[in-house]
Amino acid sequence: MIVLIGGEKGGTGKSTIACNLATWLSREGKDVLLLDADPQATAKRWVDRRNDLQGDRPKLAVAQATGDVFKPARDYATRYGEVVIDAGGRDSKELRTAMVAADVLLVPIRASQPDLETMDHVNELVALARGMNPDLKAYALISMAPSNPMINEVAEANAFLSDFAELRLAQTFIRDRKVFRDAMLEGKGVIEMNNSQARAEIQLLGQEIYGITE
Ligand SMILES: Nc1ncnc2c1ncn2[C@@H]1O[C@H](COP(=O)(O)OP(=O)(O)OP(=O)(O)O)[C@@H](O)[C@H]1O
Ligand SMILES: [Mg+2]
Repeated sequence: MIVLIGGEKGGTGKSTIACNLATWLSREGKDVLLLDADPQATAKRWVDRRNDLQGDRPKLAVAQATGDVFKPARDYATRYGEVVIDAGGRDSKELRTAMVAADVLLVPIRASQPDLETMDHVNELVALARGMNPDLKAYALISMAPSNPMINEVAEANAFLSDFAELRLAQTFIRDRKVFRDAMLEGKGVIEMNNSQARAEIQLLGQEIYGITE
């Protein structure tokens, strides 16, 4: 399966989610490739840090692609059971072509007005991609949510997204937690860190997206 993490807003946690999903899949025993389609190469550099360090962490396969990534993405999906693509945070050739190749698009957003406003255009891109890729599933994912109760934010995000026919809100949220930053710096996923709440969020997200239950 090809899962694409992308969107039209910078700094919403896309690379963090891509790296954490790849780690989770690998720990579930899946054969996973992380495909970095963002010239910033955040995910590639994280894998390099990870694979340089000693320890019992499973090594992760990583590749980079730019421009039209449809063919590389589909090719890798024949060689790896799971491909996770980090496509960066702007409307790009990489994002558009990856949307045609993917089974699932995840669009991390903070439940705030500036992030939600970008969803209008994301919604159009999903509609375009579905012309060629009718089975594409597309979810907005609340990311970096404040750790206080956020019932209102969720209700507001849901109300806002109800205007956009092409996207649904994922049930899982990812909260703003220092351990996500620390793990990225250490070349780890949060499931390899000592923080049960962050670990639970990634497990729930993985189970929601991949339908794997333990
Ligand atoms: N859930 C989280 N909790 C705390 N910090 C986070 C979380 N997710 C991401 N961050 C931090 O926020 C910053 C941006 O995250 P990240 O690089 O994943 O975003 P991005 O959407 O990939 O950005 P870009 O659009 O530049 O590619 C990083 O410093 C990262 O460590
Ligand atoms: Mg990124």
